[in-house]
Amino acid sequence: MKSITSTRLNRRKFLLRTGAAMALPMILPSSIFGQNRPSNRINLGVIGMGWQGPGNTRSFLSLPQCRVMAACDVDSGHLQDAIDMINDSNQAKDCRGYHDYRELLACDDIDAVMIAVPDHWHALVGTEAARRKKDVYGEKPLAKTIAEQQAIVRAVEQNQIIWQMGSWQRSTPIFHKAAEIVRNGLIGTVRRVEVGLPSGHTDFSGQGKVALAKIASLPQKIQDLSQVVPGTDAWNLLVSDPPSTLDYNTWIGPSRMEPYIDARINKNWRWNYNTGGGQLMDWIGHHCDIAHWGLGFDLSGPSTVKAHGEMPPSNAVYNTSPKYRVEALYKKEITGYDRDVDFVIAGGHKEIRSGVKWIGSSGWVWVDRGGFDASNPDWKHGKSLPEDLRKIKLYVSNNHQANFLDCVKSRQPTITPVEVGHHSTIPGHLGYISMVTGDTIHWDVATEQILKNAKASKMLGRDYRTPWTLA
Ligand SMILES: NC(=O)c1ccc[n+]([C@@H]2O[C@H](COP(=O)([O-])OP(=O)(O)OC[C@H]3O[C@@H](n4cnc5c(N)ncnc54)[C@H](O)[C@@H]3O)[C@@H](O)[C@H]2O)c1
Repeated sequence: MKSITSTRLNRRKFLLRTGAAMALPMILPSSIFGQNRPSNRINLGVIGMGWQGPGNTRSFLSLPQCRVMAACDVDSGHLQDAIDMINDSNQAKDCRGYHDYRELLACDDIDAVMIAVPDHWHALVGTEAARRKKDVYGEKPLAKTIAEQQAIVRAVEQNQIIWQMGSWQRSTPIFHKAAEIVRNGLIGTVRRVEVGLPSGHTDFSGQGKVALAKIASLPQKIQDLSQVVPGTDAWNLLVSDPPSTLDYNTWIGPSRMEPYIDARINKNWRWNYNTGGGQLMDWIGHHCDIAHWGLGFDLSGPSTVKAHGEMPPSNAVYNTSPKYRVEALYKKEITGYDRDVDFVIAGGHKEIRSGVKWIGSSGWVWVDRGGFDASNPDWKHGKSLPEDLRKIKLYVSNNHQANFLDCVKSRQPTITPVEVGHHSTIPGHLGYISMVTGDTIHWDVATEQILKNAKASKMLGRDYRTPWTLA
């Protein structure tokens, strides 16, 4: 995979220096101002309508700037539910349904798309959307591997599309206030950041519980699906035919074909490294994104990453690390910050509190969904900092989906553009690589390469199952 160009490096340096989010001049897709659009409304397609997809779509449906006019899913049940929801909201019967995302993306009358497919599909759908010059609201993490993320970043730049990461925490006042406190130097010079993420294998779909009930009568008394491996009675009891509504072959897509097991499809695909990245990669695009924002590290990264985690057997039903700790060093020569900063990113370590905590030379701030605390009690009051403390003002968005639509029209960067999503997830990807190899990873932030470690470097990408290829 090609690494970033010098143009991008220069641009990155400029962005780091200014601390601002800007974009290269963008070409307006002619369709946005098309003759037939009432009030220049943005026509939207939605791809991946399981859990987050419908949530995002409901927000878009409530916004008059756009009209959701097409949906795509490889599960015909999910697709029908999506079409019904969209038609109900639009009070119409004209929402188009697609099984193949490439057909939806080929439609000239669609300006932008929302993508909420499982992580192993992000790169293929995202790059094809860019190639088709659709603006994208794309879910986090940017992709399954760093090489795939680089391909998306390249495609976005080459095709000059607008991209909004689904890292919506930036569009909420509590995270904005915390990040502005840090960025304005109100806690002094930051020396350490603690990023606390969830642990275990959360049974989002409920299918984990169903699977454990299926194997409860076996003499082994299995407590967790990370104990179930191929060739055992438990495994054989869990393997079944896919439901008739699901095109399982396409659902697996570019990943390795595996026997169908209900408990690792809807939502719970996160706990299988073949399709997801465990709690670390599920959350890195949220809390590490905020940690970077506060420090102005949006386009920077760590120079060394050392991680360790509990690892179930790699062929188990759930094989992602349930408990992990990533230590990353952000060097001042790279970040341009006043000093080196230590990041700890952990799940299942009680001393690392869920959320983001920045610790500085003269104070600290902690923030999480629904929680805020700081060394200075005055900062706890109010939705935002008092104006006189806001010398540096971070980008403000009060609605993540509306911000995307505004930027589609204005051709200005969103609050969480693609490169920001790329950089916020890199510490998680490198942490995983360190966990698997057992090595400290030395990362060149500028060229985006792992130094002097062939085995680790190979893990920057992944093999695709035929016939899928990444352009
Ligand atoms: N921003 C957030 O807060 C947030 C929250 C949850 C999930 N997410 C992200 O959203 C994405 C989806 O997660 P989810 O929990 O909704 O998963 P899910 O399993 O509930 O839904 C995924 C949907 O995509 C469909 N799908 C799979 N492959 C497809 C393809 N090639 N073409 C079209 N449809 C396809 C599936 O059939 C399913 O309906 C993930 O990237 C996840 O990380 C983000």
